[in-house]
Amino acid sequence: MIWDDFLAPYKQAVEELKVKLKGMRTQFERENIHSPIEFVTGRVKPVPSILDKAEKKGIAIDQLGEEVQDIAGLRMMCQFVDDIKTVVELLRMRNDFEIIEERDYISHEKSSGYRSYHVVIKYPVQTIYGEKKILAEIQIRTLAMNFWATIEHSLNYKYRGQFPEDIKLRLQRAAEAAYLLDKEMSEIALEIQEAQRVFSRKTDEGGSGKVRP
Ligand code: GTP
Ligand code: MG
Repeated sequence: MIWDDFLAPYKQAVEELKVKLKGMRTQFERENIHSPIEFVTGRVKPVPSILDKAEKKGIAIDQLGEEVQDIAGLRMMCQFVDDIKTVVELLRMRNDFEIIEERDYISHEKSSGYRSYHVVIKYPVQTIYGEKKILAEIQIRTLAMNFWATIEHSLNYKYRGQFPEDIKLRLQRAAEAAYLLDKEMSEIALEIQEAQRVFSRKTDEGGSGKVRP
């Protein structure tokens, strides 16, 4: 298989979806209302990771497109846990892709301590040979969930999933701390959002000198 050909539509999808999902944030900013989206990232899964996963899960090479849902991966980071619901609802309203699966690791956190909301979509890519529908995974999580997952992922890589007991314990405690941080922030969410509104109004006035129509 020629990887470049196989991955081309996934690369295109990630680029397009980054623009589209970031565009949602821009729209909230324009309205000067709290954006449930803090920032968006995206990546195409590196070939060695695709092969690793195929081997682990016993996926045939000609089934990669159907069986590996996260070759195209997007992440939407939120300030508050409640924002995640809002983002999921916004995704459900869209007409440019179809949601084929949702996985709620927030109500049902993983034993590792991992929390996030996953939405798997079928996204149509327009190519010079016609339309090709590919799968993409959108992970929606708070900044605290992202912090934990990023750290845990690096350690996982280092220890190849076989954590020493003390590290495992630390990670569980860190997951608990991240959960409590999210909870504390939710308690003062309205307070924070009001402060952020005032701040962005001030920078608006001081900055561009633009006048609202
Ligand atoms: P994968 O084989 O990992 O795709 O598992 P799955 O098909 O059951 O999907 P799942 O929704 O569980 O996980 C998909 C993605 O979520 C992974 O590729 C990671 O990005 C993320 N993820 C899931 N579990 C963990 C975890 O324990 N720690 C971290 N850091 N990330 C996780
Ligand atoms: Mg998966």
